Formats: sequence, C-alpha cells, structure tokens
Amino acid sequence: MSIIEARGLTKSFVQAVKEPGLKGALKHLVTPRNITKVAVHPLDLSIETGETVAYVGPNGAGKSTTIKMLSGILKPSGGSISVNGINPYKKRMENAARIGAVFGQRTQLWWDIPIVESFSLLKDIYQIPDPVYRNNLEQFIELLGMNEFIHLSARKLSLGQRMRADLAAALLHNPPIVYLDEPTIGLDVSVKQKIREFIKKINHEQQTTVMLTTHDLGDIEDLCRRLIIIDHGRIIYDGSLSEVKSRFARSRIIFFQVGSPMPELFAELNRTPGIRFTLQNDQEFSVAFDRYEYTASDVVSRVMRHGEVIDFRMEDANIEQVIKAVYDGNLDLNQQAQ
Ligand SMILES: Nc1ncnc2c1ncn2[C@@H]1O[C@H](COP(=O)(O)OP(=O)(O)O)[C@@H](O)[C@H]1O
Ligand SMILES: [Mg+2]
Repeated sequence: MSIIEARGLTKSFVQAVKEPGLKGALKHLVTPRNITKVAVHPLDLSIETGETVAYVGPNGAGKSTTIKMLSGILKPSGGSISVNGINPYKKRMENAARIGAVFGQRTQLWWDIPIVESFSLLKDIYQIPDPVYRNNLEQFIELLGMNEFIHLSARKLSLGQRMRADLAAALLHNPPIVYLDEPTIGLDVSVKQKIREFIKKINHEQQTTVMLTTHDLGDIEDLCRRLIIIDHGRIIYDGSLSEVKSRFARSRIIFFQVGSPMPELFAELNRTPGIRFTLQNDQEFSVAFDRYEYTASDVVSRVMRHGEVIDFRMEDANIEQVIKAVYDGNLDLNQQAQ
C-alpha cells in the first residue's frame, strides 16, 4: 500500500448565504439560509514513500481542504484515507507523531515563548530521543540559518524567519511525511532558497514524503517531480511536471531595456504572429513569444538590429499561466497522465 492513499475522498461545507451589509446579517439571523458547498469532489490519490508532489490549483480549488483531511485536522464527508497505514482523523495522536505540517498562513509555534523553547516543548510532546533532538536541532539551525532569531519569540519574527522556524518545528521528530501548504508565500528569494534546499535534503537523506502546495513555479521545479492539478475540487491532472511544461508552458517573455526608442521594431513585432509585444515606456518593453516557434536568440537578434540593447532578462511562463493554458485548452489531461 502507498504511504498516502485516499479513495473517493470528499468534503462538503455548509456555507451561510448572506446578503451584504448589516441588513443582510440581520436577515440571516432571523431566517438563516445555507448552501452546501462541495470543496473536494470524490478523489483518489496514491503517493509513494519518498515522492515529492506539488499539489496546485487556483484559489479555492480545494488544496488546503485536501491537506487538512490528509493530515487529520478535518473530518472527511466521505471516502477513505490511509496515511502510514492508519486513518488520520480517527487516530489523530498516532497520526500526528508520524507527520509534519506547515501552513504558511498561520504558525504552529507558541506566540510568546522563544523559538528554542517551542522546540523543546515539541521534543517532550513527540518524545523525541535526546540524541535525535540534538542532532536535528543543530542541523536545522545551520541549514535554515536560525541562529540570529532562535532566542526570540515567534511574535517578534519576520515572516521569513517564522516560516523557517515553523518548518524546523514540523520536522524535528523526523516524520516520514510532511505537508507544506504555501510555505514560501510572501518570502524573498534567499529565504525561499534556504527552505527549498532544506526540504530537498530531508527528502534525499530521509526519504521524507513531501506534499507541497505553492504558487511558485521555482518551488515546484526545484522540488517536485510529480504534479497534481486540482480545480473546483477535482483532480484534472496527475503526472510529471516536465510533461505539463512541455505541453503547456509554451510562452516565454523577454524584458528589454534599450538605448533609444525603436518605433519600426514595435510596428514589425506587432504584425508578427506568435509574438506579443508590450511597451512599458519608450526604452523598456517586453516581448512574449511561443517558444516552439521562436528561439530567444531569434527575438534578441531582431531587437538588436534596431539599436542598442542595454539589458534584458527572460522569464518562462509561470505555473498559473500553465494552469490557465490547461483550462483554456479544455483538455482531458487525465488521459495523458502517466
Ligand atoms: N471551513 C470552511 N467553511 C466553509 N467553506 C470552506 C471552509 N474551508 C474551505 N471552504 C471552501 O472550500 C473551497 C476550497 O477551499 P480551500 O481548500 O481552502 O482552497 P485552496 O486551498 O485550494 O485555496 C472554497 O470554496 C472555500 O470557500
Ligand atoms: Mg489554501
């Protein structure tokens, strides 16, 4: 059996229907009206030990709800789950000892006590043996650069510091599975990098199974070999990242800064199919192109024919664009999944 397995897993919420404003709120008090919202339609999931899975989809797709069910926080409305061979909601304590979870939107650390004391409380709660604890603590402090803030309380930390501390807290007891729900949201590049390196190392060295929700294509590319896309509570793709990218991430953008305005170039590019040109100002513009039709050097040399290029940088389509392309194409991706 897989380390994480769900069959027909589903979750519905009862949501209040309120008209806006105070009047609506009062009306709801007198005659409440509710609707049932299906956040997760019956879905099947099998994740093997040591896999790194990106679980992505637009806001409200049902990602957090799925993760909360898998981690035993939420009771499913239907279906079955087995994680490490147990039902996470029914055996919450047993389950908690064998998973780690980070929810980017809120901390699991004690707000008012120093981080290092939060860690030591977790040691007692999870009954982490001394040598394991000392070894992990030392390593995590080093890898995540936590020295400068380990004696501060969670309240005093920046978002990036807090996230690193949360990640360490989730992994101190060497859980075989870690769920990360938007762990890099709002973080700067260097902190993101630290977090990614850390997760990679844990995954390589301990075969920790990682399920990650993120909007950041860098996180996904760096960490995950498998991609699951969920939309409106249904899995619409489950397969390799490389396949999704080569099929759907067709567009690439180059941002240029040039020495002088290039009106002829603008006119020329606007007439070229497969190229979209956007002017920021006289000397800055971007060129989006289909990377199956043009190469970056085609585009750069076309621009250089018209004058001096001071600087340029290239961006690939991000995962949102990929997902949008997936939706726009209206494809049944499940048939192509591996
Ligand atoms: N506690 C709740 N009560 C009512 N509706 C909820 C609750 N949690 C989530 N939902 C609804 O379920 C849907 C999926 O939410 P969520 O799983 O948080 O999405 P995601 O994490 O993909 O952004 C949304 O429409 C959301 O409004
Ligand atoms: Mg969410």
